[in-house]
Amino acid sequence: MHTCGCTAMALQWALSWCCLFHLDAAADVSFESHAMNFVQRKAFPRFAPPATVIQYLPSKPWDVHNYLGVVHHKAGFFLAPVWTQVFQTLGAGTSDIGAWQQPCYSSQSCHSPEAPIQFWLDMFSRERAQKARQAVGSKGLRVVGSVRDPVSMIVSAYCYHHHGREMTNRLFAPTARLLMLGPREGLVVVAERMLPLVENMTAAFEQPSNDIFRLDYETVTNSSEGFDQQMERMIDFLFTGLITPEERRKVLKATQVADAHRYLRTDQENDPECEEEVRKYVPSMPADLLGYYHSFQQRLGYAVG
Ligand SMILES: *[C@@H]1O[C@H](CO)[C@@H](O)[C@H](O)[C@H]1NC(C)=O
Ligand SMILES: *[C@@H]1O[C@H](CO)[C@@H](O)[C@H](O)[C@H]1NC(C)=O
Repeated sequence: MHTCGCTAMALQWALSWCCLFHLDAAADVSFESHAMNFVQRKAFPRFAPPATVIQYLPSKPWDVHNYLGVVHHKAGFFLAPVWTQVFQTLGAGTSDIGAWQQPCYSSQSCHSPEAPIQFWLDMFSRERAQKARQAVGSKGLRVVGSVRDPVSMIVSAYCYHHHGREMTNRLFAPTARLLMLGPREGLVVVAERMLPLVENMTAAFEQPSNDIFRLDYETVTNSSEGFDQQMERMIDFLFTGLITPEERRKVLKATQVADAHRYLRTDQENDPECEEEVRKYVPSMPADLLGYYHSFQQRLGYAVG
């Protein structure tokens, strides 16, 4: 039996997202092989003038732009339920929303790469942002991703897996080894395995970009005020001029289900006591490995250390 990171979450949507992402393996599926042109193929039929105009249907935001939500391991999984809530509130159906992750655990966690709304887990990078931009062309891409202090990411990941969460996660395979390893050795394993992923997160978000909105994990998770402030900015980035004030109000309300301060979660993603303890072992990591994480912190604007 594997443990799913959010099994105990009360709300059904969160459960489905979680289990969607951590189902056990079917064959790996290559993303690059069939995803990147998702927009071009979709965009032209949508904008082709109909032969006879019978009825005017107001366009949805995803007829105007393509949307991409991205998360890296331990840097803000809250964005998955937020993303679904936001677009479903605006009337998106299942065929409008695709998802992909790396590695791909099953066909249920990697699907619909041509849908105008996408959610990616552990695969966003500067290069893939550029490819997605090119594929979208004049329709324009709007990317939202959550960024967290890289050192907190590895500390949190060690505590999470050391406590037996997501034992099917292949990033750390054999993940069961992390149950056995103490913080000194375990932190090194986690930091090594997560290095390419955190490097990609850093390179993708270090420079501001007009079509990328960076959610600040620390602000989102610190308080409900911080959560709401970040959500308002995100919604305005995504939809200014495309939704009514009434829709904006509904969408913001819908995001609140992912605020840990409003909805008490019995299965916390983080364990503050463990993290405080494990953080003491960070300075004793091998100097070259620690150097990478310090440079990621510096590039993303976090205090180094
Ligand atoms: C990092 O980005 C590169 C370039 O897009 C990609 O090939 C690689 O799979 C990414 N790795 C991770 C772990 O996200
Ligand atoms: C976190 O929230 C508290 C209020 O709950 C506030 O005083 C503090 O400044 C916030 N810190 C950050 C880093 O946002």
